[in-house]
Amino acid sequence: MADAVGNKIAKDYHLDIPAADTGFFVKGLGNTDWGMKNRLSRIFDPKSGNTVMLAFDHGYFMGATAGLERLDVTIAPLCEYADVLMATRGAIRSCIPPTANKAICLRATHDTSVLFEDLSTGSGMALDFEDAIRMNASALAIQCFIGGSGEAASVEALCRAADQGAKFGIPVLGVTAVGKEMARNEKYFMLATRMLAELGATFVKTYYIEEGFENVVAACPVPIVIAGGKKLPENEALDMAYKAIQAGAKGVDMGRNVFQSEHPVEMIKAIRKVVHEGFTGKEAFEFFTDAIN
Ligand code: 5RP
Repeated sequence: MADAVGNKIAKDYHLDIPAADTGFFVKGLGNTDWGMKNRLSRIFDPKSGNTVMLAFDHGYFMGATAGLERLDVTIAPLCEYADVLMATRGAIRSCIPPTANKAICLRATHDTSVLFEDLSTGSGMALDFEDAIRMNASALAIQCFIGGSGEAASVEALCRAADQGAKFGIPVLGVTAVGKEMARNEKYFMLATRMLAELGATFVKTYYIEEGFENVVAACPVPIVIAGGKKLPENEALDMAYKAIQAGAKGVDMGRNVFQSEHPVEMIKAIRKVVHEGFTGKEAFEFFTDAIN
């Protein structure tokens, strides 16, 4: 292992040079097999190259949170506007009609519940690949706690999922979970996203940061999608999505900023405008206000 201290600081991300073309429209994934590419094409729209993922997996450690009290009532009507539904197998099987015919990203790890002080103690696999295949999953999401007490266990889960994913052609989404004591900054996300990609994640979910996000994206050899985080006013959430896409993110995997909006259908439609149609945050907010009025 190389020295951990005394190294030169990384600084040249060649932002003026596009990522190498590997012969497939999804960054860094041209050398994967047909089945993997087919699933990736259900996740990332081949026309825009981007994705709108609707995350409603929060119940797996938070229970019934605001907006997710009744998945059948609040989430089912949003499905048609998402490219991908990200949730647990329990939520999908019980509340989402199979006829929704959307790509599924299954939450595949379990974590400590909100009753515990330390939420970074690490994940174990919450399902096996046989069940993921039975559910026709287009991807599996593995939560990783880089810098947290559960780093080793969660990274192990990611590596084993990447092995199985390669075997069956199922992409693995590496999710960067940031512990309370960790700073959400360029240095942290640069480390976490790159680690997950190099250890086998097919695409990576992280948070948007105001400074250095374009460097994080450039240094990650596979696509990055952003989480929404806590509920923001709609104009701010749309602006954040716009800035992330401008900086090279390939989509959003958003939950609370959609399903906790007073107007979730209009909000996810506005998000689609940013992600797939190049709207600015301001234009998308105008679309949103027109739609709700
Ligand atoms: C937690 C997750 C959640 O799915 C994620 O937080 C997305 O939801 P939100 O947009 O509400 O943050 O991956 O690690």
